[in-house]
Amino acid sequence: MRTKVIFDTDPGVDDSAALLFLNATPHVDLVGITTMFGNSDIDTVTRNALYLKHRFSIAAPVARGAGKSLAGAASLPPVHIHGQNGLGDIALKHTGLPELDPRPAHQFIIDEVRARPNEIILLAVGRLTNLALALSEAPDIAPLVKEVVIMGGAFGVAGCNGNVTPVAEANIIGDPEAADIVFGAPWPVTAIGLDVTRQVIMGPVELERLERGGGEPGRFIVETSRGYRVFHAQFGIDGYYVHDSTAAAYIVDRTLFGVRRGPVRVVTEGIAIGQTIQRDWRTPYPPGEWDTAPDQQVATAVDARRVLELLVGTHIPMLATSERKTA
Ligand code: BDR
Ligand code: CA
Repeated sequence: MRTKVIFDTDPGVDDSAALLFLNATPHVDLVGITTMFGNSDIDTVTRNALYLKHRFSIAAPVARGAGKSLAGAASLPPVHIHGQNGLGDIALKHTGLPELDPRPAHQFIIDEVRARPNEIILLAVGRLTNLALALSEAPDIAPLVKEVVIMGGAFGVAGCNGNVTPVAEANIIGDPEAADIVFGAPWPVTAIGLDVTRQVIMGPVELERLERGGGEPGRFIVETSRGYRVFHAQFGIDGYYVHDSTAAAYIVDRTLFGVRRGPVRVVTEGIAIGQTIQRDWRTPYPPGEWDTAPDQQVATAVDARRVLELLVGTHIPMLATSERKTA
């Protein structure tokens, strides 16, 4: 059976690749796309979601979400990573775009979860503001959500820490209060953080395969990621970290990942704002702030080669199969 997914996103170069994967995989039934500020402002990321829906004939409706964090902050868009238009500054045609769903994103989430209890996975690959707003408006939805999967955080696995500050990852520091609420709610959360996404690198070989055999989605991924590759090159990476698509891959094949369980808290003020910390139950700490939070899952290991094969092969299934056979 196909997994029902609401994709909460800020497209975004890697967000758009994840959306094309979700649209192409036979394992996912995309129920909706909800947007929030992050990789660009809310107008731009919402327009990008509509553009993607139109260009790639994605059936799922798009609902516009939060333009600022719970604390009222709207950070400056990282144009040096995602471009001025959020999609690597490729030329975009904005005529004939479809209509938005009339509901705000958090209301869309509430309605869809209530309509399909225990069926929907919320896949959130940006700030967690929409999810926190949905919880605050309708706390009853928490036990009705099948699972929450996020791309976010960094948990110190093998020394992996932040990408915005030495301890904070972008999606979490963009709205740390929202993230702490989401990790603390009575629904099952799995965090796919930098610990694993930085191990999955889309390199020249994969990009060439996408360009050659991945049709329009493959060419779009290659075209939009040119500037993204330049950004990564300054760290000596030939290719780019696959953040959001790696979280999408988790929904399709859990055997690609290793996880550990324990309550997660998010630092919401001070020098370590945005840090995600999971309590390790093996160590008998005195009573503390983690004790009342529910156990959640954090990804600690990934089979990067198989994730890349899944992401690339989904766009070129015949090619991927024959290459596997002759390998
Ligand atoms: C996250 O931040 C954004 O730039 C990406 O889209 C990804 O969701 C990585 O830290
Ligand atoms: Ca994102």
